Amino acid sequence: MSVKVNVLLVGAGEINFGSVEGPWNHTSRLEKILTSRLRIVALVDPDQSRAFAALQSKLASAVAGVWKDCNLFPSVFEAAASLSPECVPQIAIVGAPPFARGTDIAGRDLELQLLKVFPACALFIEKPVSSGPEEASWRVAQALATHGTLVGVGYMLRYLKAVQLIKKVISDNGLVVMGTNARYVMAYEWARKPAWWDKSRSGGPIIEQATHFCDLSRYFGGDVHLPSVVAHTVQHNEPPGELSAKRFDEDQIPAENRLPRLTSATWKYTGGAVGTLTHVIALHGTTYDTEFEVYADGYHFRLVDPYSIPKLYIRRPGVAEVEAHTFTNDDPFHTELATFVGVVEGDRRNEAILSSYEDAIKTYELTWAIRRKSERAAEDYNQNP
Ligand SMILES: NC(=O)c1ccc[n+]([C@@H]2O[C@H](COP(=O)([O-])OP(=O)(O)OC[C@H]3O[C@@H](n4cnc5c(N)ncnc54)[C@H](O)[C@@H]3O)[C@@H](O)[C@H]2O)c1
Repeated sequence: MSVKVNVLLVGAGEINFGSVEGPWNHTSRLEKILTSRLRIVALVDPDQSRAFAALQSKLASAVAGVWKDCNLFPSVFEAAASLSPECVPQIAIVGAPPFARGTDIAGRDLELQLLKVFPACALFIEKPVSSGPEEASWRVAQALATHGTLVGVGYMLRYLKAVQLIKKVISDNGLVVMGTNARYVMAYEWARKPAWWDKSRSGGPIIEQATHFCDLSRYFGGDVHLPSVVAHTVQHNEPPGELSAKRFDEDQIPAENRLPRLTSATWKYTGGAVGTLTHVIALHGTTYDTEFEVYADGYHFRLVDPYSIPKLYIRRPGVAEVEAHTFTNDDPFHTELATFVGVVEGDRRNEAILSSYEDAIKTYELTWAIRRKSERAAEDYNQNP
């Protein structure tokens, strides 16, 4: 009989069970990767009715077998107290909101809770690493490293074939990245969760959403010299920031917590390159407009639409034609989890995990630096318009 892989899920929400808003759905990927070897041992969520509904739909599906041993618990500690020795998890998928994790503050410390009760368990943690103080996340990183915990963070864009092709061309040609330019234009019409539009709850559009592009920027540009970050915004109460297609009542959100409509940031990487990010909440309908560029001597890489069907345009020295690649059926959510499972099972080396916990904290720090600098710039502007 093939060996089972015990998985504990934290969070019965969209990242683990899917959403109409996007392709994420970690459980459907795990079902495909591990098939009948998968054994979901527990689903932890304080919202037990949501967890119950999520489990019921799985038990009524074609993959019910892998869910039959799944127990529901409101907390990690209650799971630990009840799970039998043969159900101790090897992998935990941490898909709770960032306010519940990434720190050593009681109640916001899911990683440390898991470490305490399941010390041998590998952790796959969603982005952003936290919504708490960055220093607290570094203390969590230290604890995870001291215990030798295997960790991967859900910056799935790193696993795209298009992204790996850029990496390969850079490496094959010994290129030094000169700059990165990330442009993320969101279609906001159907973004209706009030919490998302409240930066005191979501962290705001850079920490919550553009984090993927900040991470991709760092993946190519390297570490960021944080004091160099400069950022400006169009605020919700400025004429260019008026949005006509909102489908929720923004008046319910205190004015100081409302989201900027446009954020424009630049920074220096410690290696000398320059990074640029533009994030805009502007488009109607459902289709986002996202593009990411990398520059190096003689080369220009332009990655278009990395969230659906990525296209990569490469201009090389001495070649008049821009080389175009289209990547159909590339599922980075599948690749990131398949890689993680492969490392846990010893089939792949640890380096195959492309987003480590420490590295993800650096992305978190960059996103906070952009938010803080942009808020300071807005205050200065408001005082001297
Ligand atoms: N990589 C991606 O593209 C991607 C996509 C979607 C979500 N995410 C990330 O996944 C995380 C979760 O997002 P979501 O959309 O699933 O949110 P969600 O609100 O749909 O679900 C989160 C669930 O976690 C539960 N929860 C809250 N506190 C908990 C705790 N202490 N322990 C266990 N469960 C707890 C909530 O009750 C809720 O059911 C966020 O960090 C989000 O940014 C990433």
